[in-house]
Amino acid sequence: MELADINTLIADDMAAVNRCIQARLSSDVVLINQIGHHIVNSGGKRLRPVLHLLGARALGYRGEQHIDLAALIEFIHTATLLHDDVVDASDLRRGQDTANSLWGNEASVLVGDFLYSRAFQMMVTLDNMRVMEILADATNTIAEGEVQQLLNVHDPDTTEQRYYQVIHNKTAKLFESATQLAAVISRQDRPREQAMAAYGIHLGTAFQLVDDCLDYNSSADEIGKNVGDDLAEGKPTLPLIYSMRVGTPQQVASIRQAIENGGRDNIDSVLATIKSTGAIEYTAQAAQAEADKAIACLVDIPDSPYKEAMLALAKFSVHRTF
Ligand code: IPE
Ligand code: IPE
Ligand code: MG
Ligand code: MG
Ligand code: MG
Repeated sequence: MELADINTLIADDMAAVNRCIQARLSSDVVLINQIGHHIVNSGGKRLRPVLHLLGARALGYRGEQHIDLAALIEFIHTATLLHDDVVDASDLRRGQDTANSLWGNEASVLVGDFLYSRAFQMMVTLDNMRVMEILADATNTIAEGEVQQLLNVHDPDTTEQRYYQVIHNKTAKLFESATQLAAVISRQDRPREQAMAAYGIHLGTAFQLVDDCLDYNSSADEIGKNVGDDLAEGKPTLPLIYSMRVGTPQQVASIRQAIENGGRDNIDSVLATIKSTGAIEYTAQAAQAEADKAIACLVDIPDSPYKEAMLALAKFSVHRTF
């Protein structure tokens, strides 16, 4: 199943989600509308809403709450992106200038707060304490993950375990919410809810592992973001951590220095080391292992085109080029 087929499968639901997003984006404050529309209409993959909608359909959900949930999950994701581009000093996202580069850091942070709090307003209208609990916990965990990552910046002794903790919290957690909530609103039993949650965690982990490869292994044209941002900010992601484990003493020393100093001056030598140590392949294999675990989580979900799409998205999370 291709991405286009998946989009066709849930086209009506996604159209409703997009209408909800546009309707709930509005504010009387002009700058909020400007920045909100800039980021929301710039062509994100809408992957978390897609996963939520597919999960709800795969589990036979019949109500309307999946639309609001998919929309508000995308709002939370969008808020994290506005904040993330400030923290990462990034200039390009989705092939466009970032909000922080156009309107400044202050405006980006504050509109991110608007989107977070709008998501919580939408959540309250659903009047379901478990939904509130899952999303409140996820949002809190994302914030923890970003702060944990901040503590690892410029630290070449960051362990693989600390790295995994960061990506679990900052990225996989929201994927988990998207898929777990599909089970919650369709009133599945706890084992099935757990399976859906675990599928989301593993897929989200694979997704961030690949994101960290693409930062070294792609181009701005392909991913719509500037590559090399992670090194520029001194972020010890898995390709670097692995290179420091298996590289020659000279390679290890140069990567340590690149992490400590940040900047783009060392990018060529770091890229050469990453290539010669097979660090991209290692990280991609770790992503593949996570995707395989995600796929295994769906074994007891009844067969349907929606489940097929969920299996295909686990594969996409590894092989994606954007
Ligand atoms: C970007 O997420 C942030 C990460 C978790 C790597 P996406 O790659 O899903 O971003 P968009 O929404 O499609 O632009
Ligand atoms: C994902 O990490 C950040 C969030 C979960 C907000 P990155 O910082 O790698 O995401 P990109 O590469 O900027 O999209
Ligand atoms: Mg970033
Ligand atoms: Mg970041
Ligand atoms: Mg990235």
